[in-house]
Amino acid sequence: MSTETTVTGSLGVPMKRKEDPRFIQGKGNYVDDLSFPHMLYMAIVRSPYPHAEITNIDTSEALKVPGVVAVITGKDLEAAGLGWLPTFHGKDKQMVLAIGKVLFQYQEVAAVFAETRGAAADGAEAVQVDYNPLPVVTDPFTAKTDEVLLRPDREAKTNHIYHWEVGDKDRAEQALEASEKRIKQRMWFPRCHPAPLEPCGCVAFFDTMGRLQFHVTSQAPHVYRTALALVTGIPEDKIHVISPDIGGGFGNKVPVYPGYVCAIVGALKIGRPVKWIESRTENLTSTGFARDYHMDVEIGAKADGTVTALKVSTAADHGAFDAAADPTKYPAGMFGIVTGSYTFPVAFAEVDAYFTNKAPGGVAYRCSFRVTEASFAIERGMDILADELGMDPVELRRKNFVRKEQFPFPSALGFTYDSGDYHKTLDVALEKIGYPALLKEQAEKRAKGELMGIGISTFTEVVGAGPSKHFDILGIKMFDSAEIRIHPTGAGIVRTGAKSQGQGHETTWAQIVAEELGLDPQHIMVEEGDTDTAPYGLGTYASRSTPVAGAAIAMAARRVRERGRKIAAHLLEVGEGDVEWKDYKFQVKGVPSKSVTMKEVAFAAYTNPGQNEPGLEATQYYDPPNMTFPNGAYIAVVDVDKESGEVKVRRFLAVDDCGTIINPMIVEGQVHGGLTEGFAIAFMQEIQYDKDGNNLNTNFTDYLVPTSLETPHWETASTVTPSPHHPIGAKGVGESPNVGSPAAFVNAVVDALSPLGVRHIEMPVTRDKVWRAIRDAEAKRGQS
Ligand code: CDP
Repeated sequence: MSTETTVTGSLGVPMKRKEDPRFIQGKGNYVDDLSFPHMLYMAIVRSPYPHAEITNIDTSEALKVPGVVAVITGKDLEAAGLGWLPTFHGKDKQMVLAIGKVLFQYQEVAAVFAETRGAAADGAEAVQVDYNPLPVVTDPFTAKTDEVLLRPDREAKTNHIYHWEVGDKDRAEQALEASEKRIKQRMWFPRCHPAPLEPCGCVAFFDTMGRLQFHVTSQAPHVYRTALALVTGIPEDKIHVISPDIGGGFGNKVPVYPGYVCAIVGALKIGRPVKWIESRTENLTSTGFARDYHMDVEIGAKADGTVTALKVSTAADHGAFDAAADPTKYPAGMFGIVTGSYTFPVAFAEVDAYFTNKAPGGVAYRCSFRVTEASFAIERGMDILADELGMDPVELRRKNFVRKEQFPFPSALGFTYDSGDYHKTLDVALEKIGYPALLKEQAEKRAKGELMGIGISTFTEVVGAGPSKHFDILGIKMFDSAEIRIHPTGAGIVRTGAKSQGQGHETTWAQIVAEELGLDPQHIMVEEGDTDTAPYGLGTYASRSTPVAGAAIAMAARRVRERGRKIAAHLLEVGEGDVEWKDYKFQVKGVPSKSVTMKEVAFAAYTNPGQNEPGLEATQYYDPPNMTFPNGAYIAVVDVDKESGEVKVRRFLAVDDCGTIINPMIVEGQVHGGLTEGFAIAFMQEIQYDKDGNNLNTNFTDYLVPTSLETPHWETASTVTPSPHHPIGAKGVGESPNVGSPAAFVNAVVDALSPLGVRHIEMPVTRDKVWRAIRDAEAKRGQS
């Protein structure tokens, strides 16, 4: 039976929970559904070796496979000047197809084009490649020794990629020395993978006008168009990038991958459309991974728990090429948010990145460029400090929170936090979870020798990259845009440079326009992902859509309203200054009965505009003055079985503050999805390499994605502290649950094991790791 409830967002636009047509606005086109006459399929030959010289490639047998039309290798691309691909980070380049040697297992070595998918795969099997294996480096600490030099192609003869630092090192070290209490913990945020359900793919062809039509799973279509123009030399007007419906991106669909370049080269060389769709294994082994940060976290405090200093030193494993997608000035992304929600008087953070024989990437997996790593570091660190001080982690946090009257708050590492009420958000969480009762239950259980843990994470994020004075990718400033056209009947279309991958922009963008213009959101079409029609924008990742594109939409709508005001004045036969926008209508000031709706104004704009410019549309580019700083208070409750090491997440509550909420149902959905990913990262997922550089997690039987059976029940709530600089007060939310939850899970497990003397456990917190930690702790106690 269908029950229908109506809910209202902070913006006041009512929406129905069931069968709302706004949820089916998507056209249902996925790249793999596309088919064009004479289309060829591409398969990629990949290296079985993580590090090896290529001594010979023989394509003759492959070309004999029925249906195979062509094979290209790195040498072919090099001859065409397309051997290397600039990465989004800009400084390093990535081989398109291996030239001379391979640097990671599953690296792209050759591309085969054939009439069918099967023939392409058979052709790839038939390509003979001779390798001469070389010594392998699988961690940044070995890479640091430079005993095996991985990238002799680079001018700098070292595996060290960059050193980045922020803050005052001397003062931080002095303050740590002087602190009454001090903790230091090495923690590793393991290499994991966004693993969107739809892998990456494209269809490339040159139309009869010689224009590249490129259908691709891209979170940033305009950036792709510019990058392709720069790489291939094809003029930008001759490139049409279409990013259709996307089955999840999570950062994985931001970089330009070698497969895309090969498909375009194939289409150009053969003169036919080429389709390339990755397999699951290709996606997990060769596209942008996430995290892989080894962090040494040091916190100093007074005996009463007041924090006095923070220092975090990180060794980052970037794999074979520095293909991390980060803004130019921020090679370690927004890692500077590592001061979290706390008033550190002094702090210092540094990151050293190294090449290893692993897949390249380092994407912001549902994260605003390394915010997840930073949040994990500080939220684990605060718990370890609480343990050292013998203090309740809640009290420690409360004591050190930035207070609401301190906003805008300048952090020790250079950010200006816009707004927040951390005490309130935490209080809501404690009340909802029933913290005192949980503490009582835990004490009773501990007395019986049972292991129950409560884990807190009170994170602050930095999202909405970003203000053009600081943020660019490949030199392109990170503003965004919106174009709104209102049709004569009051229906309309909004186009942006963002690109939804399931976040529901179709709904929320329509709501913003509806709220600003008093129109029906059901009849506001949302279109993204087509570079021929959408205004230029940097795309959707790092929770930047609402802070940047969402703001552009509100501002564009306000421009439409200003144009509408002139037409309203004409219709109401008063001066423009006598017209006010009130109760979703244009009214004559002081005479509410004399009014016209936006719908009437829209009709007049095309039928009776008077002396005014006809039509009703506007475009707005929005350069945000600051980032937005969402925050949250998450609490996990776990029970750990002493005998088996099994962890049961009994409860999980997420209280998020993302400023003004456009659509509560979408925000709830975002939080549920992100928590499920955070849960998987904390307990199940790791892209592991053995010491020989073999990737051990090449499919979904080895790289686990939780189903509804494993996923805990999520409890959610929110507080609303609007962003003072965003036109509608909204902050991003998409990443928050992935950013905030891993620390809550791990803190809960460590809290459960703390009576045994366990102080830290590395993710993923698998049953065998927990079992081992319990046994080791017991053995240690037996000895003492
Ligand atoms: O950039 P991305 O779309 O991934 O993330 P986001 O800006 O956090 O938005 C995710 C979804 O949540 C979008 O549909 C937003 O419009 C919606 N949202 C909302 O309804 N209210 C907010 N304060 C923030 C986001």
